[in-house]
Amino acid sequence: MKVAEFFKKNNFHKEVDTKSLLKEFDSQMSSGLDGNIKSLKMIPAYLDIEKPVPSDTPVIVLDAGGTNLRVAVIWFDKSGKPRIEDFNKYPMPGTTGVEMGYDEFFDKLAEYIEPVSKRAGNIGFCFSYATEITPTLDGKLLHWTKQVAAPEVEGKMIGTGIAEALKKRNGIVLDVRILNDTVATLLAGKSAGMSRRYSSYIGFILGTGTNIAYIESNKNIGKVSGLPHDRSMVINVESGNFDGAPQSDIDKRMDAATRDPGVGTFEKMISGGYMGGLGLAVLQSAAEEGHFSKTAAESFLTWNDLSTKDFDDFVANPFITGSQFDQVELNDADRRIIMELGETVFCRAAGLVAANVSAAVLRSGAGRDKLHPVCINIDGSTYYKTRSVFFKSRVEQGLREILGGRGVHFETISVDDAPMVGAAVAGLIA
Ligand code: GLC
Repeated sequence: MKVAEFFKKNNFHKEVDTKSLLKEFDSQMSSGLDGNIKSLKMIPAYLDIEKPVPSDTPVIVLDAGGTNLRVAVIWFDKSGKPRIEDFNKYPMPGTTGVEMGYDEFFDKLAEYIEPVSKRAGNIGFCFSYATEITPTLDGKLLHWTKQVAAPEVEGKMIGTGIAEALKKRNGIVLDVRILNDTVATLLAGKSAGMSRRYSSYIGFILGTGTNIAYIESNKNIGKVSGLPHDRSMVINVESGNFDGAPQSDIDKRMDAATRDPGVGTFEKMISGGYMGGLGLAVLQSAAEEGHFSKTAAESFLTWNDLSTKDFDDFVANPFITGSQFDQVELNDADRRIIMELGETVFCRAAGLVAANVSAAVLRSGAGRDKLHPVCINIDGSTYYKTRSVFFKSRVEQGLREILGGRGVHFETISVDDAPMVGAAVAGLIA
């Protein structure tokens, strides 16, 4: 009861209003497609998923996600199975605590690509940030998310930056094709799910950040002229920036402490890059309002950060050791309150995720015939690893209620290394 009152006072709602979220998503998706962007950018990917993927042809693949940058060479065998070679993982430039300039940033990328630069003529680059794609698949970074510190790169062309840095470094000329990770995940779902005749495909990510891609009829993409109206195209929604989910006082407190207040407010309610920070803001507000023992309250108020993993692990098991909570002296009443607070935060996130995925599925208009469900390929550690509140199963239950209740057939799948596999597809078909 105490906890319920605390959340009410801070305008934090555990139950999400699915109906109004779906309506707002749909209306903002339409206006974004018409070029009248509210909070959803609705970025055309310039990829038509009907093109066949050539086999036995290697392509260099980069995957810049949250904290890591992965490099590999991929080719598809005759049965369509991806073969991953020369895989390497590096820290993502700009996330190591040092701010990077334009030249430094691209030179670092070129350094990572150099060892495989002679293995193929193309690079498929899964670049997981808000990026406007050109018809030739270069991409202009609109702004960073996930707290990357490389401000000079904002507004610049990523493919061109890499190609120039590579040429300068070793004279090698490579063609770089940029796509979003949700677009890559959608393509990976398609390449893995050939045997099932799906009516449409969704790529959803819940990792450090969150976002979704779906397939839209070209005739509904009002902001791009000259597209053939009988075809369709993948759209990157950039749903992490959705502003239709009400921010509580606690969300505002957490948002104010980020590099980019006001940006990505939906992402800051549901994704792994922020759930720990949100949990900390909840604990600190509750401490200030007298919900913990004196010693626990005093400790929480000295904390500067809390990882999503430590927060989730503790909410799932309040006697766990080896986490940041070891530093606090807690009694059982404190533990109970932390659990209740955390469960509310994760339940809200699950509800928001179900509404977000459903909005894209409904928008696709597909899945009306049970012979041909919609394929929802989901990637990201936060979705699969969150232990509290039966997170994944709670999202699936939400999807069944929302989509099943509307007569829409769907299937959720996961594909190993989906962002890299999808980037390979794009590198080969474009
Ligand atoms: C962030 C990025 C978006 C990406 C998502 C998932 O929201 O802006 O482009 O798809 O994270 O990684």
